[in-house]
Amino acid sequence: MKRILSNVHYFLSIVILFCLVVEFFFAGMGVFQAASFKIHQITGMLLLVCSVILLIVALIGRTGGKIIGFSSLLVLFLFIQPLLLHINQPFVKAIHLVNGLAIVATCTYLVYSWPKGD
Ligand code: HEM
Repeated sequence: MKRILSNVHYFLSIVILFCLVVEFFFAGMGVFQAASFKIHQITGMLLLVCSVILLIVALIGRTGGKIIGFSSLLVLFLFIQPLLLHINQPFVKAIHLVNGLAIVATCTYLVYSWPKGD
């Protein structure tokens, strides 16, 4: 069971990483007015839901301290990502982009940690 959940965690983190690349593309579509930011907003919220599922899988599968820690960090970063835009300070809003990089880095770490776990 532990092995299966570890594999599920691995494949889900690959899916999230792929969706993050698409999310950056959607941001670009918004910036260059090829589409509205709505799709970027919805994908961001779906990514948050997926990251919570990823954390639950890590916890149930007892995938190890590092994987659980970085899965929690991914949830935290994705949670604060929209909040950064709701603070009326351009400086804080700009952190949305840097936090986006932190999200990609965290997810990349999770993908490359498999199957070592701890
Ligand atoms: C991991 C990557 C990212 C995630 C998960 C993410 C997520 C989100 C979410 C959830 C929102 C909606 C906020 C809300 O309305 O409450 C949003 C809005 C926005 N994002 Fe991102 N974002 C990411 C990267 C980027 C990047 C790289 C840019 C670069 C331009 C960007 C630009 C924006 C802008 C300008 C808005 C506001 C759109 C509006 O006017 O409603 N985001 N993002």
